[in-house]
Amino acid sequence: MNFTNLLELEDLARQKLDPAAFDYIAGGADDEQTLQENRAAFGRWRLRPRYLVDVSSVDLSTTILGQPINFPVLVAPSAYHKLAHPDGELATARACAATGTIMIASTASTYPIGEIAAQGAPTWFQLYTYKERAITEMLLAKAVAAGATALCLTIDVPHIGNRERDTRNRFTLPSGIVMANLVDADLAKMPRNPDGSGLAAYSMLWDPALTWEVIPWLKSRCHLPIVVKGIMTGEDAKLAVEHGAAAIVVSNHGGRQLDSVAATLDVLPEIVDAVGGRIEVLLDGGVRRGTDVLKALALGARAVLLGRSVLWGLAIGGAEGATAVLTTLRDELLTDMMLVGRTKIADVDRSLVTKAPV
Ligand code: FNR
Ligand code: LAC
Repeated sequence: MNFTNLLELEDLARQKLDPAAFDYIAGGADDEQTLQENRAAFGRWRLRPRYLVDVSSVDLSTTILGQPINFPVLVAPSAYHKLAHPDGELATARACAATGTIMIASTASTYPIGEIAAQGAPTWFQLYTYKERAITEMLLAKAVAAGATALCLTIDVPHIGNRERDTRNRFTLPSGIVMANLVDADLAKMPRNPDGSGLAAYSMLWDPALTWEVIPWLKSRCHLPIVVKGIMTGEDAKLAVEHGAAAIVVSNHGGRQLDSVAATLDVLPEIVDAVGGRIEVLLDGGVRRGTDVLKALALGARAVLLGRSVLWGLAIGGAEGATAVLTTLRDELLTDMMLVGRTKIADVDRSLVTKAPV
């Protein structure tokens, strides 16, 4: 593959993609401040390497909810992989199977969850909750039938974010690309919206009335562990624990929802403190370098999720491209582990980082 690091991917993918699809993937809400901040936050920490440690053998493997994975990077749920490549989520899932990590499939996937899970990677199902609960129940049944091993409940979309690129582009799904899990419910197509984004129109089907009670409701209907994605405060982290979440993802949806919220790395310490080791804490947003992964883990994340980079990899080279993205980040992390004198993931602790001078 024709790239050296993940930061180069966006420009390479831009050359391959329809401009409206590119903007949908790349963009954030409002002024895209949070989108920028997610990356900038990694630059506010410095590493504290230790030397004369035997690093001739480094093990990147870990477990998430008991599931062994080869390195602490999962694929974040993202919608409409066919926008990036005709093989869509099947290619992404193959990349996860090839590298040994977890695929989180979006409710808004363009292949059905059953086919995605059949590619052989451990698969979680990300849930958007429809106002009509029967539709949500249908999605749960599909996730269970597919053999998904966790449910990832995204809580930061009570309304779709103000994505002005999509408004200007009147973004909608091209004909032939549908939300494959929703075909039975006749809700698979995104409308064409003459006033703006088709996603903004479609997302009105999702339930803005959700409260924390949705977690016990989900538990009463589905045995899968629930991972709550979109936590940005210690308060909500505590509520997630109290309501029975198995894990949380510190996430601001890659800066696509509320603009002007903090970078995820900046709120991670507060959230890790609030959780106090009771459940696993994951993080996403702006992870592009092996050293970013180290910093997130040092500040208490058990693993990180990769969003846009995987879609760029798909755009550049389908399953092979997505695999190359994951292996590039894995190989950087391996090098970085040797350079900081840590031989296993459990050795990455708070002593590895210090704040950058201001
Ligand atoms: C997303 N994200 C997302 N999250 C989710 O829970 N369900 C979804 O369907 C989607 N869809 C989606 C589409 C696209 C195109 C993007 C870029 C993102 C958010 C995603 O899971 C993750 O939080 C961010 O992408 C992480 O930030 P980075 O790695 O893209 O900086
Ligand atoms: C997005 C939604 C679908 O970020 O999660 O575009």
